[in-house]
Amino acid sequence: MLPKVELHLHLEGAAPPAFVRGLAAEKKMDISGIFDERGYYKYKDFWDFLKVYEAATATLQTPEDYRRLTRAVLEESAASGVIYSETFLSPDFCGGRDVGAWREYLHAIREAAEEAERQDGITLRGIVTPIRHFGPEKARETAICAAETAGDWIVGFGLAGDEKIGKPKDFAWSFDAAREAGLRLTCHAGEWGGPESVRDAIRDLEVERIGHGVRAIEDLALVDEIAERGVVLEVCPGSNVALGLYPSFRAHPVHKLRERGVTVTVSTDDPPFFHTTMEREYAELAGAFDWDDGVFQGIAMTSARAAFADAGTREKILKRLEKAYA
Ligand code: HPA
Ligand code: ZN
Repeated sequence: MLPKVELHLHLEGAAPPAFVRGLAAEKKMDISGIFDERGYYKYKDFWDFLKVYEAATATLQTPEDYRRLTRAVLEESAASGVIYSETFLSPDFCGGRDVGAWREYLHAIREAAEEAERQDGITLRGIVTPIRHFGPEKARETAICAAETAGDWIVGFGLAGDEKIGKPKDFAWSFDAAREAGLRLTCHAGEWGGPESVRDAIRDLEVERIGHGVRAIEDLALVDEIAERGVVLEVCPGSNVALGLYPSFRAHPVHKLRERGVTVTVSTDDPPFFHTTMEREYAELAGAFDWDDGVFQGIAMTSARAAFADAGTREKILKRLEKAYA
């Protein structure tokens, strides 16, 4: 199994359904409506997905819940060959944007990550993300939580949630605060918004990476600009197919983007929601585009270089990849 690097993963979105059902039972919460008859998450489209996501997240109420979640998620990732992962974390869900409470959640998440590193050899880092549809004011509070905890473990700042609401520049204050705190920047764009949403995120937020960004393909001048500037796309093909953005892996633009010189990485986004794993993403891409091990090794190395972790950690991950490929 090839070692892998994942840069785009929502922690709550990676919660196994059985884990969430267990938490709901412990808390006597009835969330049976978010599951189908086979026990998988059930949703109609992206907007319904966001509602189901928030209903599942409502079962996560304490730092201890997040400790268990982190351990469960990293176990799954490691089973797929992931050796380094970055996860989106939202103080909105972890302590209601209160800095003190957020620190407690973060402490529990980090402890679980350190245990996974010792036991499963997987390294995790965090990217703080406000939720776009909660609005720019709440995003400021989230940015303050991010700035207060920026360092060797919280390494980035991003923006998740409903891409159709507001504009990137509404969040410029938060991104400026995060940048000043030393955090590296990414933003969801070019999934539900067109190429202009990718342009806006690059111009108005000065991000180095874009979450998805795949709809840049609708404007080839933009594709060339992304390639030239070295903006990294966190591409999640299985997510895009599951949510109906493209009918199949074969119809997904990741291959064209890569051929045209764009730095692409591969991630799962919210794996159980989209019935995927990193193993499945690699297998589907290999089948759809005839990508061989060399392509995937290149993507993993590219992903390690684009990681927001400190240089020492990136170097260690690169060395592990090189050794595995030798
Ligand atoms: N996209 C946007 N926002 C999200 C997602 C996603 O896949 N998962 C959780 N919040
Ligand atoms: Zn995402």
